[in-house]
Formats: sequence, structure tokens, C-alpha cells
Amino acid sequence: MGKESDLSQSNSEKRFIMSESNDCIRLQQQIEFLKEQLGQAQRLTAVGELASTTTHEFNNVLTTIINYAKMGQRHKDAATRDKCLDKILTAANRAARITNTILGMARNRSSSIEPTDLTQMVEDTLLLLEREMNKYRVTVEKHFQPVPQALVNGNQIQQVFLNLLINARQAMPSGGRIAIKLLYDADSEMVDLVVRDNGCGIPPEVLPKIFDSFFTTKKGPDASGKGGTGLGLSMCREIIEAHRGRMRVESSVGKGTAFTLKLPTAAKTAPKRAPIAPPIALPAVFDGSMQNV
Ligand SMILES: Nc1ncnc2c1ncn2[C@@H]1O[C@H](COP(=O)(O)OP(=O)(O)OP(=O)(O)O)[C@@H](O)[C@H]1O
Ligand SMILES: [Mg+2]
Repeated sequence: MGKESDLSQSNSEKRFIMSESNDCIRLQQQIEFLKEQLGQAQRLTAVGELASTTTHEFNNVLTTIINYAKMGQRHKDAATRDKCLDKILTAANRAARITNTILGMARNRSSSIEPTDLTQMVEDTLLLLEREMNKYRVTVEKHFQPVPQALVNGNQIQQVFLNLLINARQAMPSGGRIAIKLLYDADSEMVDLVVRDNGCGIPPEVLPKIFDSFFTTKKGPDASGKGGTGLGLSMCREIIEAHRGRMRVESSVGKGTAFTLKLPTAAKTAPKRAPIAPPIALPAVFDGSMQNV
């Protein structure tokens, strides 16, 4: 009797455990599904982001062209007309660069991991954000060393870079400086992409939370309609983890913040000895320690 009740108890325990594990599997599946949806939404945000800044930028360029064309019509002297034509040519070249960049991006929305020219990706993204950075009086310094191609999905890394740039800009509401560095770390055989700002910095008690989903210190979207969901860095973390890269943050309150992405290089192009080892599979590291920047 005692045995029977033991048996039925253990059967009901088993059923309970099984239904618990089924629930776990279902929840896990739901989480995966929601993550996928979030990724899609983030991708669309990045595309929309670029489309809206580019449209404004294009409008500015057209305004310049129209104004100098009118000026050329009004002034008949050769010197003024030459100046107007120069300005029109410069603006038109800029417009062509912008459309070429957008067309290039539209052609390359692939989700595959392939050898990618990070310098080009960084230049393209900065070109598209130029207007926004000017508006917020943020100067961008570039320190680019020659680097081998990275083995990444360029679109996703662009999303990460865009998020870091917008965070940096938002950390400097009255303007400031963003320094972008690209260098090859021969020891780890990885390409480093560093985004450093001289903004408000992150207090030590906040630093461990910044990669958590929905963690934000912002009150809501800013005047440009950006920020405040607290999903930016958690998405960056997912992407960098999926690339087997690393992401480091160093911050000092009142001085600024630097995010470093370490990305695997494409084996074919790594400048180190031949035959070259395949890209190293290192776990993503989120070093939340406070350091002076
Ligand atoms: N460069 C930076 N300087 C200062 N604080 C930063 C910087 N980058 C991130 N943070 C802090 O980390 C928090 C989380 O950043 P995260 O990008 O995940 O979210 P968010 O910018 O608040 O919102 P969004 O989802 O719109 O990006 C920010 O709210 C901010 O407090
Ligand atoms: Mg953000």
C-alpha cells in the first residue's frame, strides 16, 4: 500500500516535472521567437534611422545646389559664377556619394558572415550621421590604422556601431568629441573598433547594468526621436556574442566613455604568418570595470 502510494506519488512527481520541463521548453521557444522579432525590429530601426538622416542630408545638399544656381543667375561676373559652379559641383559630388552609399547598403542586406572592410563600413556610417553630429555640435575624429578584413556580418556590425555612436552623442547634450579608432591587435588577431566620447561617463554602480535589456537612464526619446528603450546595448551584446567577438567598456564620470569591439579577422587576409590560423573562437567578454579613459 505504502509502496503503491510511493509509486503514484513518484508518477505524479514525474508528470509534474515533465509538465514543468514542457513549460520551460515552450517559454524558451517564446523567448527565441521574441528575440528574433526584436532583432528584426532593431534592423528596421537602423535602416529607418539611416533613411531619415539621409533624406534630410540630401535635402540640405539640394538647397545648397539651388541657392548657388540662383546666385549664378543673378551675378553675371565670371568670378562669382566660377565660385557658384564650384559649390554646385562639390554639393553634387556629395549627393552622389550619399546615394552610392545607400545603394551599396541596400544591395548588401545579406545576413551572412563574410570578409568585411570595416574601414568602409565606418566611413559610410559616419557620412550618413554627419548632419546629426553637426546639429548636436559633436566633432568626429578618425584614427584609422590599416586593418585586415573582419569576418563579420557588416550590416549587424553597422547596427552596433550606430548604437554606440548615438549613445555617445546622447552622452554629450551640449556637444563634444567622439574619437573613432580602428586598429589590428596582433596578439589576439582581432580588429579593434573603438568609440570614445568625452561625455558624462557612467557611474560605477550603473556600469554593470548597461547591457541588461530595458535598462536605461534616459527619460524617453530625445529631440531626434532616439533613445530610451534600453535595448540598444543588449542588442549589441547579442550581435557581438554571435560573432564570437568581445566588447569592453571603460568609463569615468565627467570624463567620458570608450567602447571597444574586438572582432575576428578573415583568415585569408590576416597579415600574420602563413598558413594563417582560422579566426579564434573566443567567448564574448563584457568587461564592466571602471577605468580612466
Ligand atoms: N556613451 C555613453 N555614455 C554614457 N552613458 C552611456 C553611454 N552608452 C550607454 N550609456 C548608458 O547605458 C544605458 C543603456 O544604454 P542602451 O543603449 O542599452 O539604452 P538607451 O540608449 O538608454 O536606449 P535605446 O534602447 O534607445 O538605445 C543608457 O541609458 C546610459 O545610461
Ligand atoms: Mg542606446
